[in-house]
Amino acid sequence: MNVPGDEGLMGIFNPDAPFLISPKNVEMEFLPGKPAAGFQYETIAGDRTYYNPVFRLIKGQQMEATMANELDEETIIHWHGLEIDSVNDGHPNNAVPGGESYNYNFPILNRGATYWYHPHPDKLVGKQAYFGLGGFYIVEDENDTALRNALDLSLGSTEIPLLIQDKNVDESGQLIFEMNPMIQTIGVLGDKIFVNQTIKPFLDVETRIYRLRFLNSSNSRTYKLAFLKGSEKMTFNIIGNDGGLLDVPYQATEVFIGLAERVDILIDFRGSQVGDEVFLKSMAFDPMDPLTVDMDFNQPSTLMNGEEFYIMKFNVAASTSYDRQIPPTLSTIEPIDTTGAGERLITLPNPIEGVWFINNFRFNPEEVPITVNRDSTEIWSIFNGPAAMPHPIHIHAVQFQILERTNSPQQVKDLAIDGAGRMPTDMGWKDVVLVWPGETVRYAVKFSIPFEGEQLYLFHCHNLEHEDQGMMINYSIL
Ligand code: C2O
Ligand code: CU
Repeated sequence: MNVPGDEGLMGIFNPDAPFLISPKNVEMEFLPGKPAAGFQYETIAGDRTYYNPVFRLIKGQQMEATMANELDEETIIHWHGLEIDSVNDGHPNNAVPGGESYNYNFPILNRGATYWYHPHPDKLVGKQAYFGLGGFYIVEDENDTALRNALDLSLGSTEIPLLIQDKNVDESGQLIFEMNPMIQTIGVLGDKIFVNQTIKPFLDVETRIYRLRFLNSSNSRTYKLAFLKGSEKMTFNIIGNDGGLLDVPYQATEVFIGLAERVDILIDFRGSQVGDEVFLKSMAFDPMDPLTVDMDFNQPSTLMNGEEFYIMKFNVAASTSYDRQIPPTLSTIEPIDTTGAGERLITLPNPIEGVWFINNFRFNPEEVPITVNRDSTEIWSIFNGPAAMPHPIHIHAVQFQILERTNSPQQVKDLAIDGAGRMPTDMGWKDVVLVWPGETVRYAVKFSIPFEGEQLYLFHCHNLEHEDQGMMINYSIL
């Protein structure tokens, strides 16, 4: 399968000088040997060409880029998870038509973590992401360096970014992207699973520890990841999420990864023999979607949300001597001080005639339903309707800390590790959280940003069809 290298598809690129990034029409192979139409971000630096580059930056670094839109439709790039001013954030109001460009120039203020970037034009995110636009944005800090040294990891060989997507492909290898009211309500599901744009992916590994940085950049599918050796689920360590390394490693055998979420894990193949095969699967779960239970969900995919399926294979191909141990602590997470913080109630109602809302609002570029005061701390209490779907709820520009989950479905409770109903992936810093039907998730968020003047951002569902359909609102920091 494709693993990030020095150039080409997902080549690792350190943007230490101004560069050009061009979303464009390209020929790709979703099925081997069958060229098809797709979109990619292309960057050319020196004699190297990158497609959907894996950006690698150091905290504090400045990034200067020009996006030259070579598509036949408008687009804009959003740097997902970054603390950034609204001019650089990729708000849909800043989308530019084909043939025009947009300049970005901003410092990297965030912690080390697996961030990412993707298109954000109004109503076109789902299509542009599905056709191939999107990639990793890896920021590194001293905690990553310490972990790399402790475990002898190196990006691209033993520390591997893995981008998971599902798509539908016809016999000639072309992507199928159909829209109808039912698909708009549920979201696009595909029955072919891609990792790093590779179908039926496999990776040769050695008998040692690997750091895998997962990103779910699908349109609407949730995955429940597990590593299987035969029928036995391997134990792995969850070490990071949206906002970087957690305080400590958390052992697990299964983990949910909702849309736009990142999950960093350590998997140890030392207990395996050369010749062993380990399968990464998505395990069965209740999709909790009242609209799709009858199987007649009117889309090209034959694979439902919540079904069990294979994602990729690890071939244990060589043995190596390796005696490193996972460090007991990974980073320091300072809890947000919530003394005196006000609570804001956000309701995600059941759909009304197939349409989703946030507090009775849908996206209107001119309207700002939520304003918050600079430097204030708030508790956002997000309640999802009992007859809704799971919604991955994302906020731009800030990261939050999950305080508690209440009224969670059993499959979430099964993975919870504390009295607040939180799973390992709820610890640390987050920018998107999957809220299940009937559930309430409360998180603390501090709106401290160093940019002058009112800043306009977005708060939305990251199911791309929900977002495109308008399950998205402006918010601004005064
Ligand atoms: Cu990754 Cu507004 O989104
Ligand atoms: Cu949604």
